[in-house]
Amino acid sequence: MKILITGGAGFIGSHLVRRMVDNYPEYQIYNLDKLTYAGNLENIKDVENKPNYHFIKGDIADLEFIRSSFSQYGFEGVIHLAAESHVDRSILDPLAFVTTNMVGTAVLLQVAKENWKDDFDGKLFYHVSTDEVYGSLGDEGFFVEETPYDPRSPYSSSKAGSDHLVRAWGHTYGLPVKISNCSNNYGAYQFPEKLIPLFINNIVNRKPLPVYGRGVNVRDWLWVEDHAAAIDLIFHKGTIGETYNIGGHNEWKNIDLIKLLCQQMDKKLQRPEGSSEQLITYVKDRAGHDMRYAIDAGKIKKELGWSPSVTFEQGLSKTIDWYLENRQWLDNVTSGVYQAYYKEQYIKRQNP
Ligand code: NAD
Ligand code: DAU
Repeated sequence: MKILITGGAGFIGSHLVRRMVDNYPEYQIYNLDKLTYAGNLENIKDVENKPNYHFIKGDIADLEFIRSSFSQYGFEGVIHLAAESHVDRSILDPLAFVTTNMVGTAVLLQVAKENWKDDFDGKLFYHVSTDEVYGSLGDEGFFVEETPYDPRSPYSSSKAGSDHLVRAWGHTYGLPVKISNCSNNYGAYQFPEKLIPLFINNIVNRKPLPVYGRGVNVRDWLWVEDHAAAIDLIFHKGTIGETYNIGGHNEWKNIDLIKLLCQQMDKKLQRPEGSSEQLITYVKDRAGHDMRYAIDAGKIKKELGWSPSVTFEQGLSKTIDWYLENRQWLDNVTSGVYQAYYKEQYIKRQNP
């Protein structure tokens, strides 16, 4: 089977590409990625010489390019992860999110339909999405697959839009589609704009830890390799037309997570207990900041037998170890344009 994975040079995509290349030598895996600031071929360096791995550089929103890639390679399955993925950036530059997340998804759907229309048998368009499409929870309750959509940021609305497009191509044209909506991922190779790698990097460099608002927002954290395992399972065993929620049943208030991270970092860096916590700085809140996300992953557990393989403490410890052992990776991705983003995002926040 020839499988197109979009966004395979990003965080989750790189773990998925590695898993698919290693576990399915009989498949040809094509990683198509624009290599934005978030895409990095270093993330998948270990698979680049494998005979069943191929890299294609390009933009999913470029209709003619996607058409010519489908004609050239004859993809039979698509696992679509390419996206603009950071909420704070969506507040700074929303239109980039509409272009990649909505127009890009529509282009892929349309070209898949054009290519597969004579025979949908054995074909699959699998769209990887987020729990943020469901909006924000109060103290109680969980997102289930039937929770009505209520996205509230440019990022989550563009992902919600992309989910609707996928379902529309499924209902209207019969395109075989699947969707999964996952909670917050963490692990190796995550770009240090997201909470956990940003804070690890700042602790290493003794920089302030910018906690938005009062630090009381809640997220449900899942180790990225458990997400990749869930995607593999849904791709192979999930039912066409269905949606699956994926989450860790692992809710943390931001400030509690940050304190645990600080404690683990002090131990690993052999710094005096409490020294990283002194870096905590409360800053202006994110605009429209969703309060709580929490996934009910009962469906994927019951129907496909998936569950997370590590506890949060284990996953976080492995994650910190990876960043400490790969400081060169962190230094490489935080040089250059990262500095300009950091200034725009955080310096103004601390001195409004
Ligand atoms: P990421 O930002 O780390 O990676 C995104 C990748 O997409 C990058 O390699 C980038 O170069 C590529 N890309 C961006 N625009 C492109 C375009 N126009 N054409 C081709 N490639 C393009 O993102 P991530 O955190 O790995 O997320 C991957 C997917 O999973 C996204 O669809 C995201 O919405 C979804 N998701 C993420 C999380 C999370 O916690 N990170 C949770 C649930 C769902
Ligand atoms: O829920 C899934 C989503 O999780 C994914 O779809 C997104 O792609 C991914 O970015 C993530 O979104 P969040 O906004 O929840 O993740 P982020 O790491 O940006 O922030 C986590 C929490 O930490 C959130 O409440 C905001 C807060 N935060 C974040 C940053 C970057 C801070 O307090 N300070 C920060 O500097």
